[in-house]
Amino acid sequence: MSDAPTDPAADPADRPLVVLAIGDIVGSAGRKALNRVLPVLKADHQPDLVIVNGENAAGGIGINARSVDEITRAGADVITLGNHAYRQYDVHKLLDDREELLRPANHLASQPGHGYCIVERGGQRIGVVNLQGNVFLETGRHAFSEIDAVLAKIRKQVDHIVVDFHAEATSEKIAMGWHLDGRVSAMVGTHTHVPTADLRVLPGGTAYITDLGMTGSRDGVIGMEREPSLRKFVTHMHSRYEPAEKDPWLMGVKITLSRTERLRALSIEQLLIKA
Ligand SMILES: [Fe+2]
Ligand SMILES: [Fe+2]
Repeated sequence: MSDAPTDPAADPADRPLVVLAIGDIVGSAGRKALNRVLPVLKADHQPDLVIVNGENAAGGIGINARSVDEITRAGADVITLGNHAYRQYDVHKLLDDREELLRPANHLASQPGHGYCIVERGGQRIGVVNLQGNVFLETGRHAFSEIDAVLAKIRKQVDHIVVDFHAEATSEKIAMGWHLDGRVSAMVGTHTHVPTADLRVLPGGTAYITDLGMTGSRDGVIGMEREPSLRKFVTHMHSRYEPAEKDPWLMGVKITLSRTERLRALSIEQLLIKA
């Protein structure tokens, strides 16, 4: 597997496609970190596609219409979500209306929105699929059979497919990575807010990471203020959570995809950037 050159000065037709995938935006610290860091990443890496998980963008839970706009203006092309997709009511209509705002494909059909989109970049068609795990999460339908159904639908229409698998259990995500190896270009995990160090291109050519981590404050507990979380663990009493603010980071990966071979990743590289 060769390392892919990504010299921005190279002829765009010769360079691999560059995809940035960015972990869950948590609250205003996450939105600010994205606003600050993404323009720099875009200048440095000239990505063809930027995928951002926005499921904690509004006050730490869910996403609202304002944060959809803010994340889009910051430079996201596709926004994926997860188990908090519907927490903010004003986003329900947008989930139906905005092609490139996704909620997990295996939620109930009766829930608003859709689970994949296809975007065209530099003459290549890239399918982006959002999927949610079944272990420890309330998920309407089975992730493994749903992704098989989505792939059967879009396989012939695309050159590349990137899956955001929003799931709790590392085992379920690793199993999904093997399930998808060679059938999609990349699978990135989200939801735990903790970045994993297991990124690699699997033998079948699928770029993989168990979890991207989050874009938000490292001062608290997975992006939320430290004190209420500690209080809850120590006292077993309910606490009201607010997003933490200090020490914001952007976490994600840069993936390069072959321009000549369908569904083939060339490299995956971790981005852990103090905002
Ligand atoms: Fe999250
Ligand atoms: Fe989540």
